[in-house]
This record gives sequence, C-alpha cells and structure tokens, in this order.
Amino acid sequence: MSTYTPQDNRKVTTRRLAEMKAAGEKIAMLTAYDYSMARLIDEAGMDVILVGDSAANVMVGYQTTLPMTLDNMIYHAKCVTNGVKRALVVCDMPFGTYQGNSLEALASAVRIMKESNAEAVKIEGGEEIIDSVRRILSAGIPVMGHLGLTPQSINKFGTYNVRAKEAAEAAKLKSDARLLEEAGCFAIVLEKVPATLAAEVAAELTIPVIGIGAGGGCDGQVLVMHDMLGINSNFKPKFLRRYAELGEAIENAVGNYINDVKSSDFPNENEQY
Ligand code: KIV
Repeated sequence: MSTYTPQDNRKVTTRRLAEMKAAGEKIAMLTAYDYSMARLIDEAGMDVILVGDSAANVMVGYQTTLPMTLDNMIYHAKCVTNGVKRALVVCDMPFGTYQGNSLEALASAVRIMKESNAEAVKIEGGEEIIDSVRRILSAGIPVMGHLGLTPQSINKFGTYNVRAKEAAEAAKLKSDARLLEEAGCFAIVLEKVPATLAAEVAAELTIPVIGIGAGGGCDGQVLVMHDMLGINSNFKPKFLRRYAELGEAIENAVGNYINDVKSSDFPNENEQY
C-alpha cells in the first residue's frame, strides 16, 4: 500500500504542473517502461511518468541509449499508458528521430502521440534542436526539454560526468533553458549539473525544472525506476537514493523457488488440483 496520497486526484496535465511550480509544490517524476510497473507507480501517486530511452540500458541491456528506435519507444510508451490513469505520461524521442530536420521531428512526435497515447514528448538539447522543438509545439504536442548531461550525446562528451561546471558551458545551458521556455516547452529536465546552477535556472524560469543529479533547488526530481528500486544494483552514483533493494529481494525469492522445486517442497497438497 502506498504511503503517499495525492491532494488532487484529477489527471495530471501540463497546466497542473505549471500550477504546482507557481504554488511551490514539488513535482515527482519516475521512469517506467511496462504496464505492470506503470500501474503501480501511478497508483502510488506519481505526478509524471517518463518512458525514458533509458529503457535501452535497463530493459534491453544496451551500453548507451543510441540504439533505441521509434518503434521501440512507441511499444514501451503504449505498455505504460495502458496502466496509467492519473500521471502525465511523457515519452522520450529516441536518438536520430528529431535532430537535423524539423519535419521529420514532427512526424516522429506525431507517431508517438497517435500510436502510444503518451501526452508529451521529451527531447535532448537546446539551440541545436530548437527548430524541431518549435515545429512539434506548433502541432499542439507538449515538449519537455532536457539539458546538462544528455546521454544521446555520449559519443561527443566521452563520459557521463557532471556537465556545465565551466562558466562557458553553464552560460550556454542557461541560454538554452531560456530558449526552450520561450519556444513554449512546458518543463525542462536538468541532468547531472551543479546544484547552484540548477537552482539559478529554476529560479529564473517560470516553467518547472525537474532535476536528476541537479540538487534540491529544482522544482521536482526524476529518477530511473530500476536505479531507485535497487534492481540495477551495481549503479551507485552520488545523486541516487535507493528506496528498496528489489534486486536482492528478487534473487532471494527466485533462489527459494528453485530450492523448493528441486526439493519437491513445491507444489504441496494445497497447491494442486
Ligand atoms: O531516459 C531517461 O530515463 C531520462 C531520465 C534520466 C531523465 O531521460
């Protein structure tokens, strides 16, 4: 049973997130990739569920997010929306489906909205992809930005270290954040940037800034579900708080089941017809 009860049971919308920011109410966001987990996360009272392209790492076992396709993301987003009643569902646009050509970006976003029932898309980058952001927004599709560590650019960065520690990169991030807000994005994710920088961006923008490894000055927080539940148990970055040790619990449960089968303890007389 959930230990949290939302004050407002209505469906979460982008407008509601704006009201939350204005009221100083923090926004909780978590990733999900399948029906059963999305249903549980929604019932626990989550505000936003992100169908992240981190599915590449935690669902498929790829080293980076780059191989995810539009069809992959639509499949995961459809599974998630089938289980969600209250949370706003945002779907990541995968690498190669929005950079460079805004018409292609629009076509990709339209497919996500039509085929998955997601309610918004998330895109990595600032000035470089602003035409795509504007084109998608022009079709009435809400866009969430993503700045700082943008994992789809890992081959350019070379590491997953903290971004925007230097003044020039911090200034570019601030100007990109303003650009995304002016274009009409409803929120921005800031990943792995110094807490002071994230707090400054959150204070300057009127749209919600959701942080991951970006400190407590953001308007909300997002984590990858497998990380915070301890399923991805070897991943222990400084910013991560673990709320369960499900990896250990699953291995124990499965080990007990194997033992019971091997010892003919399972099934017993009450577990058969
Ligand atoms: O793909 C993802 O899970 C994300 C979050 C880390 C914000 O983009």
